[in-house]
Amino acid sequence: MRAEVVAMTGENLDMDAIKKAGDILKAGGLVAFPTETVYGLGGNALDPQASMKIYAAKGRPSDNPLIVHIAELEQLEKITTEIPEGAKSLAEKYWPGPLTMILPKADIVPRETTGGLDSVAVRFPSDRIAQELIKAGGGFVAAPSANTSGRPSPTMAEHVEEDLGDAIDMIIDGGQVGIGLESTIVDFTEEIPVVLRPGYISLEMLQETLGDVRMDKGLLITDSSVHPKAPGMKYRHYAPKADLSIIEGNEEDVVACINHLTDEAVAKGLKVGVIATDETKARYAHADVLSIGSREEEETIAHHLYEVLRDFDDDRVDVIYSEAFYTPKMGQAIMNRLLKAAGHKIINAQEENK
Ligand code: TXA
Ligand code: MG
Repeated sequence: MRAEVVAMTGENLDMDAIKKAGDILKAGGLVAFPTETVYGLGGNALDPQASMKIYAAKGRPSDNPLIVHIAELEQLEKITTEIPEGAKSLAEKYWPGPLTMILPKADIVPRETTGGLDSVAVRFPSDRIAQELIKAGGGFVAAPSANTSGRPSPTMAEHVEEDLGDAIDMIIDGGQVGIGLESTIVDFTEEIPVVLRPGYISLEMLQETLGDVRMDKGLLITDSSVHPKAPGMKYRHYAPKADLSIIEGNEEDVVACINHLTDEAVAKGLKVGVIATDETKARYAHADVLSIGSREEEETIAHHLYEVLRDFDDDRVDVIYSEAFYTPKMGQAIMNRLLKAAGHKIINAQEENK
């Protein structure tokens, strides 16, 4: 089976194709679709068989729960048993949008969808195509990122085709996504809400609405004895095929360090890729250089991260050196993904240059 690919835009919806995609979902099939964060691999969230198919298509461990996507706020109470005030306020402020909330699950949500947990992750995406597909598919669409497990998440339909083109029924091509990193996940099953995955909606933004909210310890401590609470965050993830290291420090030190490491690797016969920015890309002479964006516009860095990792896979580089991106707003989310992609290999430029 090769997935049928249909193209449309949010402003110019192809409602016949949406209906067809909705029918596939209702019949237990799988449809990949764009959201404002990354492409999702959708199946009917209330159908245990569909969830099993999602795990199989991605090669994902079935203890790693799926996010249930809705397209009408009223649907939230059908799949949860209790909605705390904080969750209501966040929904009002950030839905539809790049926010996922974990709440106690209602019985109609099968354990196959929640990886065996009593809680369910819920998101109301803002993408028009996603919203219409969810409605056409019955209202509850389970969707992990539409990549093969372990690979960088897809930010365009071509990435989905590459990973899952032979494993699913249909791909809706809505062009390149807007944000490029997965949604912020907030867990409301504990006394104080906890961020399980940083995203476009930052801790500061959440604090404005919730007051008390903290980051999951497993995200802050790289020590392997502390496991992140979101099962998916414990797996090596977003990983390119090459050996990736992150170099941190001030710009001059970082450029000098990456050039020095590049020369060493090239001398060993290795092909080197460097993840640079618009500001530094001209300063790496002996490597394949990709600019991830501009430090002046941190959204561009988030937007291009997964694409750059995939491009280096296509170029078959052996080693990748990346600058670090501790930018003011999205830095937490960007560095969370980059550190995981690098298996936490981080080099201090100043130390290394000594
Ligand atoms: O932006 C996004 O959230 C994208 C788009 C497609 O909506 N979806 C996405 O799904 O990133 P996925 O499956 O790749 O990541 C879901 C994360 C995993 O780390 C999973 O372990 C966690 O959410 N998760 C889901 N349900 C959970 C639950 N009940 N408790 C704790 N963590 C949960
Ligand atoms: Mg994922």
